[in-house]
Amino acid sequence: MIVYLLSMKKSFPNKKHLFFRQQLLRWKINHPRPLPWKEDKNPYYIWLSEIILQQTRVEQGLPYFLKFKTTFPRIQDLAKASEDEVFKMWQGLGYYTRARNLHATAKLISSKWNGQFPNTYEDILALPGVGPYTAAAIASFAYQLPKVVVDGNVIRVISRFYGIDLPVDKAEGKNQIQVLAEQTLDKEQPDVFNQAIMDFGALHCKPKNPLCTSCFHQKECIAFQNGNPTNYPVKSRRLKKKTRFFNYLVIRYKDQVGLQKRTKKDIWQNLYEFPVIESTKPLDATTIKENPFWINHLVSNQAELIACSKGYKQTLSHQNIIAHFFEIEIKKPFDENNTPFFVVEQKKLPKFAIPKIIDCFLKDKSLYLF
Ligand code: ADE
Repeated sequence: MIVYLLSMKKSFPNKKHLFFRQQLLRWKINHPRPLPWKEDKNPYYIWLSEIILQQTRVEQGLPYFLKFKTTFPRIQDLAKASEDEVFKMWQGLGYYTRARNLHATAKLISSKWNGQFPNTYEDILALPGVGPYTAAAIASFAYQLPKVVVDGNVIRVISRFYGIDLPVDKAEGKNQIQVLAEQTLDKEQPDVFNQAIMDFGALHCKPKNPLCTSCFHQKECIAFQNGNPTNYPVKSRRLKKKTRFFNYLVIRYKDQVGLQKRTKKDIWQNLYEFPVIESTKPLDATTIKENPFWINHLVSNQAELIACSKGYKQTLSHQNIIAHFFEIEIKKPFDENNTPFFVVEQKKLPKFAIPKIIDCFLKDKSLYLF
């Protein structure tokens, strides 16, 4: 008898879970959100959209999804593209590891899986760049497998509704959210439920101004009852981000400019940039000219420092980048055998995939030289 009751407890959600689920599904009916990757259940398009949306808002990711889908209608088309082509199309989205993994996965599926997207949670999870969230999204949206998605939106909704006081960036808090999410999932229609909870988090239970006054969860939501919804999710204190200064040398000879590929295992690996001197403090005209790069590569070319840009800032997940652009004109042509960079015609610059911070600088058209 005890065993029977325990198993009942396990398989039948308690009233609070049921209420949460039913209200959410009702809310979803009144808040349809047509998105192009939902038009059919093609796992390739669903995977593509989920990789694009990993650190990106829907509105920003949408044109990228459409561009990729049009250019590479099948996963084999993406597999055949060059990495430079994929990076160029990805430009502006940031977190380029996603683009690298996207390409690697397309190749893997074309070769190992004969172009057929894997259809079990475990096989999907084993793909490069696919973590538990993305695997659950693909498994539920493409194949209706009963896997719950736990992304930032879901963490926020659950932690508020159930009043989770453990930090969600620590194992205990994470586990508690995961268990509750699994208990609330509607296993009969995991795709509908997952989309509902994600959309509810993005559009209603928002990080800063949640729509609590018109919320049907008011009576049951612990965060609302405590009067402090935006205090959830609770986070442990974060480490201070480190700041790196990138001093870019925009070195020009006639209509040519120096460029290099970032090959090291660091941010923006395999993107292109101007030759760079990295420092922990901002540099100025004097300190640039004292730097070994200037002494070794520019003095003999009769370099002249023409201008220095304002500072450009880009915030990444674990670091801040501040870039200054030093415009330099040289009187003697480049000797590519003796420079750590290569030379391109200025007008060919748009062909190269470059970090957003350089794109912002070029788009400002504040360049003295160009
Ligand atoms: N973010 C990631 N995946 C999403 C999806 N399927 N719908 C809305 N936002 C998302």
